[in-house]
Amino acid sequence: MSDCLKDAPIGVFDSGFGGLTVVREIMRQIPNEKIVYFGDTARVPYGSKSKETVTRFSRQITHFLQTQNVKTIVVACNTASAYALDELEKEIDIPMIGVVKPGAKVAADVTQNGKVGVIATSATIGSEIYTTYIKKLKPEVSVTGKACPLFVPLVEEGLLEDPVTDEIASRYLLELIDIDIDTLILGCTHYPLIRNTIQRVVGEKVTLVNPAYETARELKLLLEEKGILQDKKPDLGENRYQFFVSDGAEKFKTFANSILKYGILSAKTISIEDY
Ligand code: DGL
Repeated sequence: MSDCLKDAPIGVFDSGFGGLTVVREIMRQIPNEKIVYFGDTARVPYGSKSKETVTRFSRQITHFLQTQNVKTIVVACNTASAYALDELEKEIDIPMIGVVKPGAKVAADVTQNGKVGVIATSATIGSEIYTTYIKKLKPEVSVTGKACPLFVPLVEEGLLEDPVTDEIASRYLLELIDIDIDTLILGCTHYPLIRNTIQRVVGEKVTLVNPAYETARELKLLLEEKGILQDKKPDLGENRYQFFVSDGAEKFKTFANSILKYGILSAKTISIEDY
């Protein structure tokens, strides 16, 4: 495998900021890699849109990332992974990985009592994709989904540790606590950012599964398997990370700098409808 391909960036996309939780894990687990990130900040949220619309948006982003010569694409958005990944995978010739399968696999592995909860956007819950994947691996596991649409705006407003978030989490999660789940999948990119609140509400006995962590792990395995993992350390001062958005580059930059250790130098706005 050519060094040129090893040196190519990984493309990552999401409907907005949330996918940065996946970027954060990729930076931690495979720090030699270059990343090109696209956040569709002009058209977020995806979680309340139709399959056709999310697939169309995801296709445009995939085309844009291909122009950046990425070696693989990570669909960091649960909703896009649920709605668009299967179709897009057939259309392009570079490997793609979503966040749903890795999260489902871990949940199926870690549950002891066979009762798994999934919290996500209305679209992801409606698609029943986590249930489908978990049942394929372990048919005896029961999976209960709960859409938590208010979590995304709460996170975007920065209310990560706030009584309002506590109150809403208590209401959303009550029915999952009542049925005695022992594993809970954080099936939306934003939810790892309110992980502490969620853990407090469901109690320490419930294992939280963060698909972002598992996705980065599987990405590393995929790159190794294909012989395209970057084993060379980056040159000093080299800018390895590029961020693109469809709107609000300054706001994106501020948010990104609050959750990534690496200081983002710039985020560029592009017209994604052109791809
Ligand atoms: N990124 C989305 C997801 O993981 C959450 C935000 C949205 O609804 O677009 O499903």
